[in-house]
Amino acid sequence: MKANPFVYGKEVSGENFYDRREDFESLVATLAGGAANVVLYAPRRYGKTSLAKKALGELSRRGFRCIYFDFMRVESVPAFCEAYASSVYALERGAVRAMRRIGSALASLRPKFTVGDDGKPALELDRAAVPTVSTVEGALDLPEKLADGKHPVVVAFDEFQEIGTLSPDIPLEGVFRSCIQRHRSVRYLFLGSKTHLMKRMFGDRARPFYNSASVQRLDVPAEAETAAFVRARFASAGLRIGDAAVRRVLAASKGIPYHVQAVCALAFDAAVGAGRRDVDEAMVDVAVVRLVDSKSDLYETSLQSLAPAQRTLLAALARNPVGRFDAKYRAAHGLGPSSGVHSALAVLTGKGLVESTPRGYEIGDPMFALYLASPAYQLFAR
Ligand SMILES: Nc1ncnc2c1ncn2[C@@H]1O[C@H](COP(=O)(O)OP(=O)(O)OP(=O)(O)O)[C@@H](O)[C@H]1O
Ligand SMILES: [Mg+2]
Repeated sequence: MKANPFVYGKEVSGENFYDRREDFESLVATLAGGAANVVLYAPRRYGKTSLAKKALGELSRRGFRCIYFDFMRVESVPAFCEAYASSVYALERGAVRAMRRIGSALASLRPKFTVGDDGKPALELDRAAVPTVSTVEGALDLPEKLADGKHPVVVAFDEFQEIGTLSPDIPLEGVFRSCIQRHRSVRYLFLGSKTHLMKRMFGDRARPFYNSASVQRLDVPAEAETAAFVRARFASAGLRIGDAAVRRVLAASKGIPYHVQAVCALAFDAAVGAGRRDVDEAMVDVAVVRLVDSKSDLYETSLQSLAPAQRTLLAALARNPVGRFDAKYRAAHGLGPSSGVHSALAVLTGKGLVESTPRGYEIGDPMFALYLASPAYQLFAR
């Protein structure tokens, strides 16, 4: 029997990636055209990182030099400077002029140039040194200064909303914005999964990045695309999935790529475990129950951190996603006055538990929604 053809939890590419052709083409065209920087935002697990990396792959083939940088990986300003300058240094393949540039831009952080265990050029900064605004500017300007005008650079900043957490002393958002807007040879792609923070960062008049980029929202792929992917991946391992079972996958996962792949991976295991070559609805149900079970401790912990009004609102949204909390909805779900609902909603969106999608407010993780709506939880919550 073939290996499980579904992958979840890390970025995907090649045959594990369904094509998202429109999003991909518009991302590549805007970045290659250079008329605007791009913001791509979507709730967690929609496939932002995979799509961005695919776009960077295409841009590299077209002669752009590309940097992918994840803000989740750095915890301080010196760590940012070190990791960012290292990415630029790697792009320049350790060239002497890059070494000089980095050396002078980051002199206050005492850069050391070495060769890593893998034989590649590496850079270390003194993490204990205190960075200033001009140090950060020095790091940010590196790709612009090193670009030779013929091969523009594309920088993708993933989880960009996290710059807000890096330094209490340096107003990073303003520093980033003023550097970036001076750059002529660098195009930027900003990605983020905390959608409420990304929307505010780029949509609030009072914020430095207001209106500074073309905003692309990534939605779940079209159902037909997801269905075709699911069938093809099962078929690649010699299994067949019926139409009703595919619909079940779509309903449970809400079409969110991570959950589609997770449900299918477990359904595949269930089918193989039962010695079957056909995947039916019952196997998808088994997979969903196992998935929800495997996360129940996590869900429990997250519920314990919430006030009762917040839990009630979550349970209501689990049963019934909605666009507006009118009197009828509030009465039906025992929610109390509108002001209380909106402050509970602010907490839940702030924690990334609830998302505002084109379909209304819904629980970001569909397995969490199933957990909340399950009879076992309803009993416990009473
Ligand atoms: N185009 C795609 N085709 C198939 N599966 C995908 C696709 N995009 C994402 N996935 C699935 O979703 C998972 C998460 O993908 P990825 O890390 O790109 O998403 P993300 O939106 O960046 O997530 P996070 O919010 O956690 O950073 C992958 O492991 C894969 O299972
Ligand atoms: Mg990501």
